[in-house]
Amino acid sequence: MKLGIVGSRGMVGQVLMERMLQENDLKHFETTFFSTSNAGGEHPFSKISNVDPKLKDGNDVNELKKMDVIITCQGGDYTKAVYSNLRSQGFKGYWIDAASTLRMESDSTIILDPVNLDVIKKALKDGKTDFIGGNCTVSLMLLALGGLFKAGQIEWMTSMTYQAASGGGARHMNELLNQMKFFTDRVMATETNLSNKILEVEKNITGLMSDSAFPKENFGFPLAANLLPWIDADLENGQSKEEWKAMAEGNKILQSTKAIPIDGTCVRVSSLRCHAQALTIKLKKNIPLDEIEMMLAEHNPWAKVVANNKSDSLRYLTPQYASGKLEVPVGRLRKMYMGDDYLNAFTVGDQLLWGAAEPLRRMLHILLENNT
Ligand code: HSE
Repeated sequence: MKLGIVGSRGMVGQVLMERMLQENDLKHFETTFFSTSNAGGEHPFSKISNVDPKLKDGNDVNELKKMDVIITCQGGDYTKAVYSNLRSQGFKGYWIDAASTLRMESDSTIILDPVNLDVIKKALKDGKTDFIGGNCTVSLMLLALGGLFKAGQIEWMTSMTYQAASGGGARHMNELLNQMKFFTDRVMATETNLSNKILEVEKNITGLMSDSAFPKENFGFPLAANLLPWIDADLENGQSKEEWKAMAEGNKILQSTKAIPIDGTCVRVSSLRCHAQALTIKLKKNIPLDEIEMMLAEHNPWAKVVANNKSDSLRYLTPQYASGKLEVPVGRLRKMYMGDDYLNAFTVGDQLLWGAAEPLRRMLHILLENNT
């Protein structure tokens, strides 16, 4: 199969390539790397056999058309600019995309194979060719709770998210660091023990957030020493687009016959890379906690049930622990005061792995299996 990879130098692209090299994925394909800014240039994978050593132009429909599969991490603007044109010029191959642009199109399938392999296989059988990665928090939540969804035991759910700067992209992560530096350079330049005047320091920091030199071009607001309770567009019904995705995408991924209500508040916090979520789950019936733990742990190899105690929670249920891992820790599992059919949970996962790159590279293997 001829594979075209677009956007391998961006942040999601780098994580994708790291995983593809770890798993030796390229050995199965004749691969061409595409770039929208450096056509004809070099790329770091030129020594690998069956890889075209030069970058091709990511906007060249005739070159793209030669591929059997295109995988893109180039972002939504690229998808908007190229996809329709490419299809109308006769591209019949598979389009695997990390961007959200095509996710909710009726011909698209959202890919999260540990949860919806049956849906993906059916789509392939039906001749579908667009396979799109899901929203990061939605994918991570479904992996963590796969066992309960599969058992059909979730009546409704609220999800309150704590989303890292990485969800915005590399420039956002860099801006968060610059915001932190902006404060510490100013309030800690001469001394680091400020506890005896901490209220004055806090006032100073809050004031610095309005300083005209404060770096906020990307977030638009301070994230360091702050949080931002709105992610993505305003749908003007009181909901953010990020919040809307939970139910819309979640049910599309599962192909639920009756939509499961999922709603909550999405919040950007100052963690760098991993997204976390606090979940309130209304179960259809009172299921004993040990059974729930077993269902979650057995559903897929990545969901890791964390014992609901202070030391394990602080050790394993954090962005610090989840960063760079495929594991999706899920814990704080307990029945709530509201009743035995109300379950509390907290989960965290790497936004760049299962939340973006991993489902894309796994889709390549599903295509290979489908072709043999
Ligand atoms: N929408 C996500 C976020 C990015 O802003 O955190 C990944 O889907």
